Amino acid sequence: MSKQLLISLPILLVFIYLCTSTVAQSPAQAPSAQAKAHAPTAHAPSAQAKAQPAVQPPIEVPLVQAPPHKALTGPTNVTKILEKAGGFSVFIRILKSTQVINQVETELNNSNNALTIFAPTNDAFSGLKPGLLNSLSIEQKVQLLEYHFLPAFVPISSFQTVSNPVRTQASDTYEYPLNITTTGSIVNISTGIVNTTISGTVYTDNQLAIYKVDRVLLPLGVFAPRPRPPAPAPAAGVKKPNKDESPFSPVAAVDASAGVSFTRNGMVSIGVAFAAAVFVWSQF
Ligand SMILES: *[C@@H]1O[C@H](CO)[C@@H](O)[C@H](O)[C@H]1NC(C)=O
Ligand SMILES: *[C@@H]1O[C@H](CO)[C@@H](O)[C@H](O)[C@H]1NC(C)=O
Ligand SMILES: *[C@@H]1O[C@H](CO)[C@@H](O)[C@H](O)[C@H]1NC(C)=O
Ligand SMILES: *[C@@H]1O[C@H](CO)[C@@H](O)[C@H](O)[C@H]1NC(C)=O
Ligand SMILES: *[C@@H]1O[C@H](CO)[C@@H](O)[C@H](O)[C@H]1NC(C)=O
Repeated sequence: MSKQLLISLPILLVFIYLCTSTVAQSPAQAPSAQAKAHAPTAHAPSAQAKAQPAVQPPIEVPLVQAPPHKALTGPTNVTKILEKAGGFSVFIRILKSTQVINQVETELNNSNNALTIFAPTNDAFSGLKPGLLNSLSIEQKVQLLEYHFLPAFVPISSFQTVSNPVRTQASDTYEYPLNITTTGSIVNISTGIVNTTISGTVYTDNQLAIYKVDRVLLPLGVFAPRPRPPAPAPAAGVKKPNKDESPFSPVAAVDASAGVSFTRNGMVSIGVAFAAAVFVWSQF
């Protein structure tokens, strides 16, 4: 009897080891599977997450006198703010003619939305090549305007820690890259065509910031379109990402977790078989 127990003891130990090791495996697997599932979306908040170490002192940009900050009953009226600040009539005119202003007002009417606007002055528009604006289609004008909008409230000091290229409301950051860097209190903006700096704060609350810029931010996508890197076969290039990205990686993730649960089940069955064997054996 005791001999049998002595022989079955190692088997029990093997069984216990198998059980604990599979149990120990499961919490380790779960987060990694989650990480995989979230990998495609992990890009989105990178602007906030990838903050560079803030070595520089806080930025102090001299404020262009902001309009009196009163509790507004309706949505913040961007037109009114720009009119009050003065010197932005061309920008206002284009915002209205393209109806982008309606989109802005609708967005700001939801207190969950936030916006940062780079407002080019009339002088900025005067500095453009004559006829440049009129040569643009409505779609191009809309992209040009949306390139001046960031879909977040960015206080002036936060430009120190943005990661480039910054996401604007224009279609994407490849065709519409916008880089923001700081030197001391200077906030530099670079489009690849135009370099400029923020020359003042027009307005700021916790939802909306409007900064004055003395150049129109000309995006590459409108004024110097460049081919995308995987250029050779556009048809294949369009097909592949669809096939690879959406169905493929989730399937791979499912396969991996199926494999894990298969081996876990396998180990448990082996363990159960051992336990049964030990039990039967010890009855003799
Ligand atoms: C915003 O203000 C302008 C005048 O400054 C006015 O014409 C316009 O109707 C206002 N918009 C809204 C939505 O109240
Ligand atoms: C703002 O939203 C409210 C409802 O949420 C709506 O009644 C109102 O008309 C909207 N105002 C504007 C200017 O869009
Ligand atoms: C910002 O612009 C200023 C003036 O144009 C320049 O001296 C400075 O080097 C620029 N800083 C960065 C980080 O590009
Ligand atoms: C913007 O920044 C990115 C990343 O730092 C860099 O690769 C790119 O060349 C920059 N573009 C411009 C126009 O400065
Ligand atoms: C913008 O600045 C970068 C470096 O900060 C420089 O390499 C580039 O030539 C400048 N572009 C223009 C159009 O001035």
